Amino acid sequence: FEVKWDVEAAEKGGYEHFMIKEIHEQPSAIKDTLRGRIIDDSEIVLDDVKITKEDLEKIDKIFIVACGTAYHAGVVGKYVIENLARIPVEVDVASEFRYRNPLVNERTLTIVISQSGETADTIAALKEAKKKGSRVIAITNVVGSSVSREADDVLYTWAGPEIAVASTKAYTTQLIALYLVAMDLAIKRGTITKTKVMELCTELKKLPEKVQYLLDNKDVIQKFASEHYNAKDVFYIGRGLDYAVAMEGSLKLKEISYIHSEAYPAGELKHGTLALVEEGTLVIALATQDDLFEKMLSNIKEVKARGGFLVAFAKQGNLQLEGVVDKVIYIPETLKELTPVLTVVPLQLLAYYMAVEKGCDVDKPRNLAKSVTVE
Ligand code: AGP
Repeated sequence: FEVKWDVEAAEKGGYEHFMIKEIHEQPSAIKDTLRGRIIDDSEIVLDDVKITKEDLEKIDKIFIVACGTAYHAGVVGKYVIENLARIPVEVDVASEFRYRNPLVNERTLTIVISQSGETADTIAALKEAKKKGSRVIAITNVVGSSVSREADDVLYTWAGPEIAVASTKAYTTQLIALYLVAMDLAIKRGTITKTKVMELCTELKKLPEKVQYLLDNKDVIQKFASEHYNAKDVFYIGRGLDYAVAMEGSLKLKEISYIHSEAYPAGELKHGTLALVEEGTLVIALATQDDLFEKMLSNIKEVKARGGFLVAFAKQGNLQLEGVVDKVIYIPETLKELTPVLTVVPLQLLAYYMAVEKGCDVDKPRNLAKSVTVE
C-alpha cells in the first residue's frame, strides 16, 4: 500500500490552519525570544544591539516605525519605553513616516519592526532614517532579511516561520523584544530600579505558562465566536496599553473574518463614536489597567446604557464587572506593562474562531499577502 503523506497537514502539526498552530506556538516562541537575554534576573543582554551608555547620552528621541501588526506592537513599545527609559517616543506607520520629511537626526534612535524584514515601506523608512543620521535598530523574525542587513543593530524574535497572513506569534514576540529594549535602555540611563528590573524579569519568564493557561481555556472563546460571528460591526475600546491591544484585536478580526471593526480610545467615545452604538452592537472592552479601571468602568456603563452587547476583559480577581457587562474574560495577573502579551491571546482566538465559523480562508485572507514587498 502507498503511504500518502498529507504534507500540508504535517506542516500544520495536526492543526486545521497555520494560524491556530502559530497561536499555540506562542508560549515556546516567547521562551525562545527570552532565552539568553536575561542574566541573573538583573541584566539584559541584547546580542547584536551594541548601544552603550555613552551612545544614549546623545539620544533625545526615539522613533518606532512599522506597518500593520508590527506597528501595533510599536504602540505598546512607546508606552513601555517612555515609562521605563523616560525618553520621548513617537510611533508612526512606515508609509507615512517615509514621505513626511520626519524630524530625525543623529540625536534620534529609530526602531523598525518587521516580521518578514521585507516590507517595502518599512525598508524605505529605515533608509530614510539612516539618511538623516539616525542609528537604527531592527526587530525582525527573519535572519538575514533586508532590514536585518540595513540596520545598525538587530534584535531577532525567535518565533520561527510565521506562515499565516495574520500575524500572531510575531506580534507577541515583538512585544517581548520591545520589553527587553526598554529595560536595556532604562538600565543604561539609570531610570529603573534593580527591584523593578527583577520584577519584570521574573514576570517575563512566567508569561509562557500564562499564555498557555489562556490557550487551555480557548473553548470559552470558541463558544462565544459561534454565537456572535454574524456581527456586522465590532468595536474594541480601551485606554493606555489596552487601547494599543484593542488596535491589534480589531485588525485580526477585520483581516481574516472580513467583519467591520474599529479600535477606539475609550475616552473618545463621547466625541463621536458613541453615536454608532445601538441595541446589540458588539463592544469588546479591555479593562486590565488598574490605574485606568474606574474610567473604563464609566465608559463601559455609557456603552451599555445605549444597548451595546459588552464583552469585557479584566484581570483575574477583579470582579467589579460581573453583572455590569454581558460577559467577562479574565486575564491572568501580571505586571501592567506585560498585560498586552496576555490580553491579545483571546483576541487572536476570537478573530480566528469567528473567521472559521464564517468559512473564511483563514490562512490566506482575500486581497492580502503575507509580506507586502511592494508599495
Ligand atoms: C498582520 O496580521 C498583517 N498580516 C500585516 O498587517 C503585517 O503585520 C504587516 O504587513 C507588516 O508585516 P511585517 O511585520 O512583515 O513588516
